[in-house]
Amino acid sequence: MNREAATTPIDRLPPSPHLLVTGGAGFIGSAFVREILARGDRTRITVLDKLTYAGNRGNLASVEAAPAQAARLRFVEGDIADASVVGPLVAEADAVVNWAAESHVDRSILDPEAFLRTGVIGVHVLLEACRVEAARAAAGERRGMDGAARPAPRFLQVSTDEVYGSVETVYSREGDALDPRSPYSAAKAAGELLARSYFVTFGLDVVITRGSNTYGPFQHPEKLIPLFISNAMDDQPLPLYGDGLQRRDWLYVTDHAGAVEHALHHGATGEVYNVPGEAELPNREVVAELLARLGKPWSLVRSVADRPGHDRRYAMDGSKLRALGWQNAVSFQQGIGETVDWFRANEGWWRAIRSGEWDAYYARQYSARLAGGVAAGSPGGSPRGAETVAAAAQAHEPAPELG
Ligand code: NAD
Ligand code: DAU
Repeated sequence: MNREAATTPIDRLPPSPHLLVTGGAGFIGSAFVREILARGDRTRITVLDKLTYAGNRGNLASVEAAPAQAARLRFVEGDIADASVVGPLVAEADAVVNWAAESHVDRSILDPEAFLRTGVIGVHVLLEACRVEAARAAAGERRGMDGAARPAPRFLQVSTDEVYGSVETVYSREGDALDPRSPYSAAKAAGELLARSYFVTFGLDVVITRGSNTYGPFQHPEKLIPLFISNAMDDQPLPLYGDGLQRRDWLYVTDHAGAVEHALHHGATGEVYNVPGEAELPNREVVAELLARLGKPWSLVRSVADRPGHDRRYAMDGSKLRALGWQNAVSFQQGIGETVDWFRANEGWWRAIRSGEWDAYYARQYSARLAGGVAAGSPGGSPRGAETVAAAAQAHEPAPELG
C-alpha cells in the first residue's frame, strides 16, 4: 500500500473553500487570515469583526495592500451576536472559524458582561445559522455558484487551555473535566459546550481547538508579553502579579493559526484538539528573557497584588493533534526573538493602541497595584515582598515599600 496515502489525513473541506473568519482583525485571527492568503492558493475569506477595542483593521494591511490577496478577502464590520448579519454570511461559507471573543482575563474580572454576550450568545447565533444551512443542505437547497450541491458548513470553535482550569502537575487531555475559574474561561467553556451540543443534538459538523498562551507580532499590549515589552521600552514599571511563579505554555502565533487550519481541514467531526506550545515557563523566566533581549534592568519589575483567582499553571498534552500530522514549528527562543524585534520595529502600531481608552483601562487595572508594589527580588524567584503584597491585597490596602 502507498505509505503516504495511508498516513495523509482526509481533507474535510472542498478544494477552494470560502471561509467565514470571525475576529479576523484581532491578534491570532488576523495571523490566520494573513498566513492563508499569503500562500496564494484559491481559498477565499470573509472576515466578520466587530472592531472592538481589540480589533484593528490595520492588522490586515499587508493583505489589503497586495492585490492578489485583497481580491480573495472581504471585510465585514459586524457582531457575531447579530443574526441578521451572520445568517447571509454563513449561507455563503464552506466553514466558519470562530476566533471572535473578548480575550483578556483581567478585563473579564473588571466587566464580565461582554464576555458572555460574545462568548455565549455570539456562539449561539453562529451555530443557529449553521443549523439553518445544515437543514438547507439536507433538503438539497444549499448550492455552490456552479449549482452543485454543497454540504453543511463546518464550524470550528477556537477555545483555550484555560477551560481545564489550573493544573498542578498533569498535562490536560481532551477528555479531562472542565474547570474554568474566571469569567473569561467560563464564557469560553460555555461557548465550546454549546458547540458540542449542536454536534450531539443536531449533527452539525463541529470541531473544537484548545490553544495555549499565544504570543507574537500584533498582540494587543494589554497581555503580559507585549505589555512588558512596551513598558520596558519606555522604562515604565512592569507589574508582575503575585510571586510571578505562575506557569504558562507559550505558543507562537503562526503555530496557533496553523494548528487551527490543520484541525479545520483534518479534524474529525465532534472532536476536540489541544494545541500546546511545548514551552512551559514561569512568568519570571519569560520576563527575564524579555529584559535581557531589550537590554533593560530587572529593577523595572514590581511585585504587585495578584489577579483574583489566578490560575497557577496550564499545560496540555498535544498528542491527539500530532497524530493528525501537526507539530509546532517555532521554538520559544525563535518566537520571542521575532516578537521583541517586531515590537521594536513597530512602535507606531502599539503606541496608537496605548492611547485613548487605554489610559482609563491602565489606571483601573494598575494604579492601585503599582502604588502598593514592591521590588520583585531576583529573576529566578524568592520574590522579596510577595507575601507582603498578597497580605495587603487581602486587606485591600497598599503594601508597604520594602527597602
Ligand atoms: P483578540 O482580543 O486580539 O481579538 C479578538 C477579535 O474578535 C477582535 O478583532 C475583536 O474586534 C473581535 N470581536 C470581539 N467581539 C466580537 C463580536 N461580538 N463580533 C465580532 N467580532 C468580535 O483575541 P486573540 O488573542 O486573537 O484571541 C482570538 C481567539 O483565540 C479568542 O477566541 C480567544 O479566546 C482564543 N485564544 C486566545 C489565546 C491567546 O493566548 N491569545 C489562546 C487560546 C485561545
Ligand atoms: O492560556 C490561554 C489564554 O492565554 C487565552 O485563552 C487568553 O485569551 C490569553 O489572554 C491568555 O490568558 P492569560 O491570562 O494566561 O494571559 P496574560 O497575558 O493576561 O497573562 C499571562 C500571565 O502573566 C498570567 O499568569 C498573568 C501574568 N500577568 C499578566 C499581566 C497582564 C502579570 O503578571 N502581569 C500583568 O500585567
